[in-house]
Amino acid sequence: MTSSSRETVVGLLRELQDPWLEASLLTAADIDSVAVEGGKASIALTTAYPCEQGAEQLKQLISDYVSELPDINTVDIQLGSKVPMAPRVSEEAGLTNVKNIIAVASGKGGVGKSTTAVNLAMALSEDGAKVGILDADIYGPSIGQMLGIPEGRRPDVTDVGEQQMFVPIEAYGLKSNSMAYLVTEQTPMVWRGPMASGALLQLLNQTAWGELDYLVVDLPPGTGDIQLTLAQKVPVAGSVIVTTPQDLALLDARKGVEMFRKVEVPVLGIVENMSVHVCSNCGHAEHLFGEGGGSRMAEEYQTKVLGSLPLAMTIREKMDSGRPIVADSETKEAQLYIETARRVAIKLALQNRQSAPIPTITISDD
Ligand SMILES: Nc1ncnc2c1ncn2[C@@H]1O[C@H](COP(=O)(O)OP(=O)(O)OP(=O)(O)O)[C@@H](O)[C@H]1O
Ligand SMILES: [Mg+2]
Repeated sequence: MTSSSRETVVGLLRELQDPWLEASLLTAADIDSVAVEGGKASIALTTAYPCEQGAEQLKQLISDYVSELPDINTVDIQLGSKVPMAPRVSEEAGLTNVKNIIAVASGKGGVGKSTTAVNLAMALSEDGAKVGILDADIYGPSIGQMLGIPEGRRPDVTDVGEQQMFVPIEAYGLKSNSMAYLVTEQTPMVWRGPMASGALLQLLNQTAWGELDYLVVDLPPGTGDIQLTLAQKVPVAGSVIVTTPQDLALLDARKGVEMFRKVEVPVLGIVENMSVHVCSNCGHAEHLFGEGGGSRMAEEYQTKVLGSLPLAMTIREKMDSGRPIVADSETKEAQLYIETARRVAIKLALQNRQSAPIPTITISDD
């Protein structure tokens, strides 16, 4: 019997499927080192997406696979993650260290965009990423309330060089800014289109976001001025379209996909919200509006369903109480958001890695 070498182990790692990617693990991860000695394989990997919540699952998968080798008894795995930067980043003061801007959009209102944006942002943060969220729905901002930030709290202002910048308000590890933090009841938001777009750009560019892996932008519904401004004037790395089954029937979600395509912002995929109703008494799941609309639309537009969230009382109740469901990460709904967010991160990682020069994997002999 020939003994397993480092090359054998590397060969196995190349074959291994990523549990969330449906492709080889190494398309979204790099090998840092592999050593084989006395029946023990030591592997160090860096994923290009955050996955703290999934680390045990991933380690187990690798360990089970590599342990199949007859002369390997123990497998030691070190996992790290490093989120790659989008190819187009902003030169604006507040955004220079923001690696990826993600827009969360929908064709029509009330489909659960803000709920999805907040929970996805928190899920990325639970997975170990540095995350910010911007409420760009300046006509009806809601993020502050969802994050339990007391009404009337204003962001501090700090001097960065010559410029005055907002200091984002932190909650649940997220850095946030919102039009709602800046207006008072005495200044109703009667904005004309250009004013609204200007306000959005100011919020984005003049907030001291610092180093972020992801900045999630919760857009207002529809495909109007604000969405166009964002798509044209801000280097958005990718968009996530939120739909409900009714929304699909009305074709509104399609408008969202088409708008981003037109302005060449990649559509990362679709999140189907309120796809099934889960009875809070018996847990029975019912497809109120029919099944599979999201995947049909995804197929038509050559994109993917990144996740499906049920219409669940706990999602609304938690949000209304200012403690989004993902804060209780062991719940079933939180897990769904975490997996959906990981798919968003993987999509971005693949996109960013494809446009960057491919790193060469070197495996040293010592
Ligand atoms: N999966 C869900 N289960 C239960 N309730 C939900 C779910 N998603 C969203 N909701 C509730 O539906 C309502 C609308 O959600 P949300 O405010 O996120 O929608 P939106 O698309 O951002 O709306 P708008 O277009 O006004 O910005 C809220 O009360 C929210 O708590
Ligand atoms: Mg909203």
